[in-house]
Amino acid sequence: MNHTHEQNKIETNDPDPSPVSFTELVRGLLADQFVNHRYRLIIGFIALISVDFLQLSIPLLVKKAIDSLAAQEATMTRLFILAGAILAIAISVVALRFVWRMLIIGFSRYLERHLRNRIFSHILSMDQYFFSRRSTGDIMAHGSNDLAAVQMACGMGMVAAVDALVLSVAAIGFMINIHPTLTLFALLPLPFLALTTRFLSAKLHRRFNQVQEEFAHLTEFARSAVVSVRLIKAYTHERSQVENFDQLGRDYVHANIRVALIQGLLFPASTLIGNIGLLIVLVYGGRLVIDQDITIGDFAAFTTYLQMLIWPMMAVGWVANLTQRGVTALRRIHGLVTSKPILVDSSHSSSALPATSGFRARNLSFSYPESARAQLSGINFEVESGIIGIAGKTGSGKTTLCKLLVRLYPLDHQALFFGGRDVNEIPYELLRSQIAYVGQEPILFSDTIRANIGFGIDEVSMEKIEKAARDAGIHQEIIDFSNGYDTVIGERGITLSGGQRQRIALARALLYDRPVLVIDDGLSAVDTATEDFIVTALRRRFKGKTVFIVSNRLKLLSMTDRILILEEGRLIDDDDHQALLERNAFYQAMHLKQMQENEGLSHA
Ligand SMILES: Nc1ncnc2c1ncn2[C@@H]1O[C@H](COP(=O)(O)OP(=O)(O)O)[C@@H](O)[C@H]1O
Ligand SMILES: [Mg+2]
Repeated sequence: MNHTHEQNKIETNDPDPSPVSFTELVRGLLADQFVNHRYRLIIGFIALISVDFLQLSIPLLVKKAIDSLAAQEATMTRLFILAGAILAIAISVVALRFVWRMLIIGFSRYLERHLRNRIFSHILSMDQYFFSRRSTGDIMAHGSNDLAAVQMACGMGMVAAVDALVLSVAAIGFMINIHPTLTLFALLPLPFLALTTRFLSAKLHRRFNQVQEEFAHLTEFARSAVVSVRLIKAYTHERSQVENFDQLGRDYVHANIRVALIQGLLFPASTLIGNIGLLIVLVYGGRLVIDQDITIGDFAAFTTYLQMLIWPMMAVGWVANLTQRGVTALRRIHGLVTSKPILVDSSHSSSALPATSGFRARNLSFSYPESARAQLSGINFEVESGIIGIAGKTGSGKTTLCKLLVRLYPLDHQALFFGGRDVNEIPYELLRSQIAYVGQEPILFSDTIRANIGFGIDEVSMEKIEKAARDAGIHQEIIDFSNGYDTVIGERGITLSGGQRQRIALARALLYDRPVLVIDDGLSAVDTATEDFIVTALRRRFKGKTVFIVSNRLKLLSMTDRILILEEGRLIDDDDHQALLERNAFYQAMHLKQMQENEGLSHA
């Protein structure tokens, strides 16, 4: 693959994460959600901060209890009052924690849903170009990871940030109030705690990603093995497949152990550093008590505040990681939802209906975005109306030509004309509304035959559906099913043959009743007699209109008005059946081969 070529073509449309500023990101993707849910957030954060202050008041109560005990002036009533107050606080903390969790984490879930909907509706609005660059699975997988990262940052990330800030500022305030110098010494080890968590949680995150990757390998391997089980058996590769699977399983376990290792390190390391602070308080603070600079109650409260600081310090490192990941993810989401379809209507386009259903290609060349070479080159033809066959070897460009006719990809100016107008100057929707397309693989839904044929059209009469099915040569078979047109097909219903599926797809296309019909090899599984019937019906329906049929079957091609022969992306011949039979080598070879096959059949 030629990368420079690829980049030249698609760079303008690629989501480019760098130039968007943080404010733009927030304004573009988050702000409206924060505003819409403001009451939820305000109440949530009030609950969160209340929890912090309630927790901070507990050491004060303990200090009171200890001091009155030390001064020998404690009464049982006094102790019960203090204990009752602590119990009340503890219960309120539980209730308020529940409140903020519901409100703030709930908000982050709403936000996630909102962003997911935006991604989804954006993907639906994109054209084929977008999907030829990345697989849909890829988009959704990245999308989900990114959404989870944003959800975490705006949920627990925000909670931890506010919580840590309030808790640490207040705790340090109380500590300074007890003894400033002691506070200074006690806090010395804490920055190391923040650094350690930052380092370890980044490492944890990387290793956790590896676990997910290994798991993806494992499931992808299992999936493809199941899909190709016949092939594997045919080549008796079961044993090596099992061995490969076992190896992947081992990798997965290994990755999990590496995660556990860091998890096992994170909390003990943090506690260790936290306890060093406690050591300092014990020695220096103990000395202060002996010197009667602070009371025993002060001493006890101080150690409790110090313990309270361990979590905020850990949170600093954790929040920094969450934020960093959240912003990166938000950038990618922004890039995704702001990428534009390449097929945009030009300002010259006019919404007047094209006068005819004719096509003209003028030196038409095309290459797929990922491809370095041209898939079609220098094609010229002019078609007024009628049934046009398209033939050529596999890979010669037949499907590509069909996709261009229905304008799935952008094209150079002045290369393809429809109804006398450059396709680039016909609004995209209008052009598509003029052309019905039947692809190589019929797309049917797990629904009734009636719904499959009538798909995409509101309020279509049964009469029309039947007429379309008749012309597609499938009506008789449908009414032979026990439920007729109400027969359900697909996973929940009956299984159709390839030819039946193709003809139902054709009936759907006929129902659209558009001036142009493009059938890309859509009759390949239909038997010759039915094929005959269908082409005759098409001729009746499309009088003065245009039908393109890709096929390599002589019988079908002989019934068309004209045949375009492609070879390696070039149009090497363009004439009717008889003329081609006389002079075109590819056509003659095809004729000879199919004659022999028919004889083979009749002798059998
Ligand atoms: N999405 C794509 N991206 C890049 N190359 C493609 C794509 N689709 C088809 N091609 C290439 O274009 C050429 C023509 O393919 P196609 O039009 O499908 O041929 P046909 O329908 O005649 O068998 C082939 O070489 C094929 O590999
Ligand atoms: Mg094809």
